[in-house]
Amino acid sequence: MKNFTFYNPVKILFGKGQIARLAAEIPVTARILLTYGGGSIKANGVYDQVKAALAGHTVFEFGGIEPNPHLETLLKAVEVVRAENIDFLLAVGGGSVADGTKFIAAAARFEADPWDILAKQAPITAAVPLGTVLTLPATGSEMNGTAVVTRAATREKLYFGSPLVMPVFSVLDPETTFSLPPKQIGNGIVDAFTHVAEQYLTYPVGAPLQDRMAEAILKTLIEEGPKTLANPTDYAARANFMWCATMALNGMIGAGVPHDWATHTIGHELTALHGIDHGRTLAIVLPSVLTLKRDSKRAKLLQYAEWVWGITTGTEEERIDAAIGRTRAFFESVGVPTRLGDYGVPTETIPLIVERLENRGAVALGEHGDIDPAAVDKVLALSV
Ligand code: NZQ
Ligand code: ZN
Repeated sequence: MKNFTFYNPVKILFGKGQIARLAAEIPVTARILLTYGGGSIKANGVYDQVKAALAGHTVFEFGGIEPNPHLETLLKAVEVVRAENIDFLLAVGGGSVADGTKFIAAAARFEADPWDILAKQAPITAAVPLGTVLTLPATGSEMNGTAVVTRAATREKLYFGSPLVMPVFSVLDPETTFSLPPKQIGNGIVDAFTHVAEQYLTYPVGAPLQDRMAEAILKTLIEEGPKTLANPTDYAARANFMWCATMALNGMIGAGVPHDWATHTIGHELTALHGIDHGRTLAIVLPSVLTLKRDSKRAKLLQYAEWVWGITTGTEEERIDAAIGRTRAFFESVGVPTRLGDYGVPTETIPLIVERLENRGAVALGEHGDIDPAAVDKVLALSV
C-alpha cells in the first residue's frame, strides 16, 4: 500500500427529515447565503424545508447556478458575499450547486484573479465555511474538497481542490431526490460507478481492504441502481444509492492506491465542447480507456471480472472483454448511451480535444502517466 494522509471532517446528516436539524449546525449569528440552481428546490419542497429550518437565522439567497457551474455566474455570487458580509454558505442542490458554492467560498477570500484558482491551481489560504443540502446523488462533492467550474467564455472546464472547501456538514435526505428525472438517476449511477473505477481499475498495490470496499460499492450500485430507477420513491433503494455515491468519492477507497482520472479529464472536454451531462461523458469514455489500457490494467480487470461480475471462465482476454462488455451494458441499462454517435458528436471533435488537452499540458494522463495525446485520440476513436 502507498503512504497516504486521510482527512475527512465532513459531518453527514443522513436520512428522512434531517433538513429540520440545519439550524443546530449553523451559528445563529451567521449571515448565510443560500445558493441554489435553476429552481428544482422550489418545485420539490426542499427550499421550503430549508427556509423553515432556518427561520431564526439571517438568510440571503443566490439562485441560478447552472449545471456545470459557470465562473461568470459564480463571480456574481462572490460580489454578494462581499457586499453583505456573508460568513456562511449553504448550497442546496446537486453537484453543480455544491461545486459552485465551494468556488464562491474560496474566491470570496482570494485577493488575485479568481480564475487563477482553476487555471493556475493557486493555493487557497482561506474560504468562507459552507454546508450542503444534497438533492442529487452522483458527484461525491458533498463529502470532498473538490470542485469543477466552467468558464463559459472559453468553454474551459477545470477543477480545484482544497481541504478549506470541504463542507462543514452535508444533509443527505434521500426523499429530496425523489423528484429527480430518470436521466439524472442514470447519470448519477454512472458517475459514482466511474469514480470507483478510476480509483480501483489501475494496478495492484496490496490494498485488499480498499479493493473490497470498491467492489462493494460497485456491486451495490449494480444491485440498487436498477431498483431505484424502476421505483423512484423506494426509500431503501434510493438511500443505498445515495450513500454509495458519497462513499465513492470521499477519499476512503482512494487512500493508499493509485488513481487514474483519465476518463474524467477527457469527459470534461466533451461537456465543455458539447454540453453533454457529466455522467454521460464518462459512459462514453470509460469502456474505451479500459479497452486501450487492458494490458497495464490486466490484473485489476481480471479481479474486477471475478469479484464484481462473477466472470471466472474463459481465457484472460475473454474475461476482460466480458467485464468491459458488462460495464457498457450496465451503463446502457440505466439509460446512459455509451457512444459518441449516440450524442451526435462528430469525429472532428476528436482532434480538437486532443489539441485542447495538449495545449493545457494534460499529456500524461492515467495511473502510469502514459495516456498521451496519441492515446487520447485512440480512446476517443474507440468511443465512436
Ligand atoms: O438546477 P436545478 O433546478 O436544481 O436542477 C438540477 C439540474 O438541472 C437538477 N436537479 C438536482 N436535484 C434535483 C434536480 N431535479 C429534480 N429534483 C432534484 N432533487 O439536476 C440537474 C443536474 O444537476 P447538477 O448539479 O448539474 O448534476 P450533478 O450532481 O451530476 O453535478 C454535475 C457537476 O459536478 C461535477 C461535474 O463535472 C458537473 O459540473 N463533478 C464534481 C465532482 C466533485 N466535486 O468531486 C466530481 C465529479 O466527477 C464531477 O466532475
Ligand atoms: Zn464524476
